[in-house]
Amino acid sequence: MDRLEAIFSVIPECEVLADVGCDHGKLTRRVALSGRAKKVIATDISQACLNKAMELNADLDNVEYSVGDGLKALQGKKCDVVVLSGMGGNTMISILSEAPDATLVLQPQSDVPLLRGFLVDNGYRIVRDFVIFDDGFYYDVMLVQKGDMVLDDMQRLFGAYYKEPNAELKSKLEILVKKLKTYKATEKNLYIINSALEALRWQE
Ligand SMILES: C[S@@+](CC[C@H](N)C(=O)[O-])C[C@H]1O[C@@H](n2cnc3c(N)ncnc32)[C@H](O)[C@@H]1O
Repeated sequence: MDRLEAIFSVIPECEVLADVGCDHGKLTRRVALSGRAKKVIATDISQACLNKAMELNADLDNVEYSVGDGLKALQGKKCDVVVLSGMGGNTMISILSEAPDATLVLQPQSDVPLLRGFLVDNGYRIVRDFVIFDDGFYYDVMLVQKGDMVLDDMQRLFGAYYKEPNAELKSKLEILVKKLKTYKATEKNLYIINSALEALRWQE
């Protein structure tokens, strides 16, 4: 599945969506053209990246642009949905520390267990959480809302809904086990191998 389409698939209908770290602006364009959000605020920490989004979407009149670090670029403007995609989980945690009052759509590139832990420890509930495969890479996609949720270690590692059938999660776990078995048998590696094997039992 195409990564940006997978992200788009979980975006709810809303008034204002912020595409924070929009870079090329392709997701901004998809959302603005679809009408799923009436208005999109496209932001990036880099003016050069934002310029790409401005160029791509010059024909659209329901997109606003703002340069800045994380949510500061929104300058207090109310958004119903905030999308953070294609950046590291640690960067997302730092951005989300400003506690936006919005539904979140997240596609982290790294530190995903850490991000899941941060979310549930900070008043969020993970509503959707699934793996997709696009162009040789696995990606996690999440829809997150304000609320309460408790995650065990397995859920933090492999996804809040790792027990649900997901062919991409299954192949990701199989590859992970195969790879880790070639590594040194440290306590941490053995723990992850055994946890992944346990998660795979739900995917049989
Ligand atoms: C790899 S691109 C991902 C672009 C797009 N969101 C996607 O999913 O394809 C990451 C973008 O996040 C931007 N970025 C990184 N840290 C940021 C921050 N703290 N605030 C806003 N944008 C940030 C980068 O400048 C870059 O354009």
